[in-house]
Amino acid sequence: MSLKENLEKLRDNGLQDIANSNEEQVLNDIRVKLLGKKGPITDALKSMKDLSAEERPKIGAIANQIKKELTEAIAKRQVELVQLVIQEKVKKETIDVTLPSRQTKKTGTQHILNQIIEDIEDLFIGLGYQVISGPEVEEDKYNFEKMNIPKDHPARDMQDTFYIDDELLMRTHTSPQQARTMEQHDFSKGPLKMISPGKVYRRDTDDATHSHQFHQIEGLVVDENITMADLKGTLEVLVRHVFGEDRKIRFRPSYFPFTEPSVEVDITCFACGGDGCRICKQTGWIEVLGAGLVHPNVLRNSGIDPEVYSGFAFGVGPDRFAMLKYGVEDIRNFYSNDVRFLEQFKGEEA
Ligand code: PHE
Repeated sequence: MSLKENLEKLRDNGLQDIANSNEEQVLNDIRVKLLGKKGPITDALKSMKDLSAEERPKIGAIANQIKKELTEAIAKRQVELVQLVIQEKVKKETIDVTLPSRQTKKTGTQHILNQIIEDIEDLFIGLGYQVISGPEVEEDKYNFEKMNIPKDHPARDMQDTFYIDDELLMRTHTSPQQARTMEQHDFSKGPLKMISPGKVYRRDTDDATHSHQFHQIEGLVVDENITMADLKGTLEVLVRHVFGEDRKIRFRPSYFPFTEPSVEVDITCFACGGDGCRICKQTGWIEVLGAGLVHPNVLRNSGIDPEVYSGFAFGVGPDRFAMLKYGVEDIRNFYSNDVRFLEQFKGEEA
């Protein structure tokens, strides 16, 4: 093989190696091997002294040309490799903005009791009721006396509470809101229709079904000619909304000092449909709330003439509703704020 052919082969292989190199270190080794002091090009240039004067410039030109080509190819590949490294890095670090974010903070959820209360509020607002809240520290006068429970009335025993002083107490029910709203109402503007949700307090020993603080939603309608039929129709709408469209209700006679007649309201069991099961204790019925027609004394105590007006009232326990609806066996779960319990009700919001 002539020197020229040798050089050309060297160039072809060299270019091939340069193109195949995929790391800067490898490329550098190739550069040293091809163009270094002990490399073949240097050798070739050194050996030119043995050539004829005629051949020398030709081979010299070829050798220099090849040296130049290889040097340029190496420089070009060098730039490519740098780019390649950058591209790889960019590819690895690409942020996919469509990915869901990593959850570092937990989002909370509305408390299940507030969900139930707001759901019932929405229902009654749709029926034309006002939603009114009242004081939790209440006067004896409103909590008991105006509700037809005079001092020393035995019914007070059922609702023992926390007294601030002789005349001030933590309200035992939301019924004082009846007297408060009746006193304020102007019948020339239409009937009184209100619900009043809130916390109430009793001096109960806390157990699975009792808590010293729980919730009620009072309901009150006062107008001319309000009857038990109005009460029944309204409660039917309520229980069907909360417990399902197939629910039937029944009234059982009961006693509250502030209603006459008074009733306990049962619904057909939502678990078995009325056949009898564990939840309804085999009776097919579940007691859900107390209600009645507003006692004439209560109307009178708030300046309303019972000869002209009548009304119905009911008291709902949202805690009890939630326990029944979701099978919660211990009321204290609502108040102990264990996130594992509470987050089960994520997304129940209407
Ligand atoms: N206030 C009664 C209670 O706490 C419930 C109730 C309200 C009953 C309105 C009748 C009418 O037990």
